[in-house]
Amino acid sequence: MRSHWSGRLAFILAASGSAIGLGNIWKFPYITGENGGGAFVIIYLLTILIVGLPIFIAEVYIGQNAQKNAVSAFNVIHGKPSPFRAIGVLGILSAFLILSFYSVVGGWILSFEYKVLTGAFTDATPETISGMLGGLLGDWKSLLFWHTLFMLITAGIVVGGIKGGIERGAKILMPGFFVLLTLLLFITMSLDGFGDAFAFLFQPDFSKLTGKSILEAVGHSFFTLSLGMGAMITYGSFLEKKEQVFKIAIAVCALDTIVAVMAGLVMFSVTFTYGQEPSSGPALMFSTMPMLFSQMTGGTYLLAAFFALVTFAALSSAISLLEVVVAYFSEERNMSHKKATVIFAGIIWAVGILCALSFNVLSGVFDFFDFFDKSTTHVLMPFGGLLTAIFFGWIIPEEKVYGIFGGPTTAARCIRFISRFIAPTAVAVVMIVGLSDWITG
Ligand code: PHE
Repeated sequence: MRSHWSGRLAFILAASGSAIGLGNIWKFPYITGENGGGAFVIIYLLTILIVGLPIFIAEVYIGQNAQKNAVSAFNVIHGKPSPFRAIGVLGILSAFLILSFYSVVGGWILSFEYKVLTGAFTDATPETISGMLGGLLGDWKSLLFWHTLFMLITAGIVVGGIKGGIERGAKILMPGFFVLLTLLLFITMSLDGFGDAFAFLFQPDFSKLTGKSILEAVGHSFFTLSLGMGAMITYGSFLEKKEQVFKIAIAVCALDTIVAVMAGLVMFSVTFTYGQEPSSGPALMFSTMPMLFSQMTGGTYLLAAFFALVTFAALSSAISLLEVVVAYFSEERNMSHKKATVIFAGIIWAVGILCALSFNVLSGVFDFFDFFDKSTTHVLMPFGGLLTAIFFGWIIPEEKVYGIFGGPTTAARCIRFISRFIAPTAVAVVMIVGLSDWITG
């Protein structure tokens, strides 16, 4: 018997646990900073609506309908063997690559949490703080230690299975996450920089937008919603067939977007209050938050809470990445769920070592970290999403698509039209332009 989520709420928690992660709290603020703010945010929001939401619905539907892993789901729906199963195969590859660098960043967070708890930030000056991430990146032994720990915790949750592991994890991690994030937003609202942060995120200046920013926005909308790589097909496959996908999908996409905007407001309020540069890249979160809290009474507790929040978000995403791989191998290769978890967590951990060493030992040789990030976010995930939109728009019969919405309603027609024409064209154009940019440097 295939396991199932205990209900709709459990699915919403697990799926938003997958969607909400480092992409929202770490990546979204820093790429928004690098791409000039408001105009980028508008493109990102539009992409979520016209590309992200339809593909999200498609993926959950495919999984739910087939009740199978990301590869075989296409065979079940399309008839065996479907060429579209390539989506699942590429998805498993993406899950591998993403988790290998994601776990390294997860390790940075654990390491910062440890620093907070052992008092490294008490009375630290802004200069010391801004050098901390750099210091960690130069120290390969520490990086490997924290990467290993993060991967162990991830595997420890996934080993418990769908209900006993992933669902139970998400039920603790996600509510804790929301409470902490709301608390942080309230605190930062009283900072001098809040108004500037608001303006930075919501006042568009289109002259700052480049072709590259558009590719970045499209790629990020896939990354942040965990699309184009089988995660939502896999999670959808544990959803009972009677559940209505449409409203659930809206809830998850909305939650993910709200969290990204909240995290952006928090991060930029601090950035502007302390006169930092919004475009300071991946280090943004690791310096802004300690700067804010190290100067506040009781700040250590808040900082500890902040890194706990990011740890929760990162773990609940990492488990979905691992489950994509585990679900496939345990279902198709006659392996127990436990055994598949141990073996593949081990292999991904080993590949992750290359990412951790990219910052030190391998620096100047090859940047695996950046390569895995860019090749998945800018190429593999959009490509997977493009094929999924085509499958959903052109292969699945019209009545079935309308069935998801309870009939041929306006929303149903809209989503079908978008998946047939708009989403594939938009993603294809952006990918071609982006790829030629990437190749020609
Ligand atoms: N959506 C996650 C985040 O925003 C990352 C992720 C991508 C998780 C793909 C699962 C699958 O951090």
